[in-house]
Amino acid sequence: MRHEIVEKKLGLMTVLILFVISGGFLAEIVPLFFLDETNEPVAGLEPLDPLELEGRDIYIREGCHVCHTQMIRPFRAETERYGHYSVAGEFVYERPFLWGSKRTGPDLARVGGRYSDAWQRMHLFDPRSVVPESNMPAFPWLFEDKVDHTKTAQKMRTLQTLGVPYTDEQIEGAAEDVRGQFEIDALVAYLQQLGTVISDKR
Ligand code: HEC
Repeated sequence: MRHEIVEKKLGLMTVLILFVISGGFLAEIVPLFFLDETNEPVAGLEPLDPLELEGRDIYIREGCHVCHTQMIRPFRAETERYGHYSVAGEFVYERPFLWGSKRTGPDLARVGGRYSDAWQRMHLFDPRSVVPESNMPAFPWLFEDKVDHTKTAQKMRTLQTLGVPYTDEQIEGAAEDVRGQFEIDALVAYLQQLGTVISDKR
């Protein structure tokens, strides 16, 4: 009846629970902070350029991540459909990451280059025009509104502080890079680079 002792002494049980949980934390989480594989960018990874970065913010604003994941799990069914599974080194500049948790639509981790720019634009303007059975919403306002170029440099500066290797020249030129572009241009630029750093895709 040793178990009964634990169940009746709440203080003891609390200590034991904390012991077990911290054991799991130490064994599973702490090593991740020191593994190169989880901290080092994969070869060839570049931070998003200013237009792509603005596209990413539009992706977040429009809630694309609510229906789409960006995380291919290492299972046959996923790699056959989407390409090489996602690896930690692809996400080191992602703040916050957009792995998502629900797939109403397909995973987008490697959608970059899968369709033409023209297809992406038509699909976002009217999904049913290219995928008749689609239940994805349309986003026509992206074709009317221009990207807000006044905060791009600030966003990049903040990311630089967090360790994303933007150069000062890139940041200085950022506003000019995105000025006058439509939101759809930024979003499509963002989509077209997704997952392209790993070339072993189908
Ligand atoms: C309400 C859920 C929903 C939202 C929100 C949504 N999508 Fe989708 N998306 C879908 C569904 C369902 C499909 C599959 C049918 C189709 O291709 O239209 C899809 C397909 C796609 C595809 C084609 C993927 C492929 O591999 O064929 C892309 C690209 C895409 N969505 C991008 C976006 C972007 C960008 C946004 C935000 C502006 C967005 N989606 C918002 C549901 C959604």
